[in-house]
Amino acid sequence: MIQSTLNERKALHVALIMDGNGRWATRKGLPRTAGHRAGLKSARRIIEVAPALGVRTLTLFAFSSDNWRRPAEEVKLLMSLARTYLHQERQSLIERGVRLSVIGRRDRLPAGLVDEIETTERSTAKGCSLHLRIALDYSSRDAIIRAAAALAGDALPSQDQFGHLVSATAGIAEATDVDLMIRSGGEKRLSDFLLWESAYAELWFTDKMWPDFGPDDFRTALAEFHRRERRYGGLASVA
Ligand code: FPP
Repeated sequence: MIQSTLNERKALHVALIMDGNGRWATRKGLPRTAGHRAGLKSARRIIEVAPALGVRTLTLFAFSSDNWRRPAEEVKLLMSLARTYLHQERQSLIERGVRLSVIGRRDRLPAGLVDEIETTERSTAKGCSLHLRIALDYSSRDAIIRAAAALAGDALPSQDQFGHLVSATAGIAEATDVDLMIRSGGEKRLSDFLLWESAYAELWFTDKMWPDFGPDDFRTALAEFHRRERRYGGLASVA
């Protein structure tokens, strides 16, 4: 009980693996790209409700480094969706106090998308109602390897110091542990997403395909999160 009250007060970091766009579309006889367009609408709805639900950091897995293996047409659509999203939403993000950051590699992204990312990051930098982080060309293992390489023979860092290095190599100054990891689409795995940051994350899975995932599902996941007791390897709290 005490623990759940504490959880409610904490500014939460929620990470979302938005899986199932392709299957959602295929089941409807639509091209996979239609699933990604519908998935973007779902993401918009979740971003809108997140601050009121106590979420201060929201990290979305929009394109993994392994997604380059997909057909060129699908990759192109995903890059263009991200670019359009940043361009169209920028003003609204500023007005709603949302700070946007992109994590992952930038050197393989189309130049036009990188421009939109940089402009949006600059112009939303002061936002403090929500830190929206979009993972593009992101691989957690890659971020960890780069952090380890950056140490190259230095003394062993503390976990906090190393966490900052992992975040920095993924392109962001702050290290934030994930409180709740949500995955739609029925699979139960992390797929190289925020592995270091999720060491003590609560995991929540749903069979719903991402385009069908709505604010009510998000509330349900958060409500279950608040019912869980997080012990971090310690003992149950005594009321
Ligand atoms: C996984 O579903 C989803 C993706 C690889 C892309 C997710 C991207 C969006 C929802 C667009 C959001 C973009 C921004 C900029 C917020 P899948 O294609 O692997 O689905 P499947 O497992 O059914 O094939």
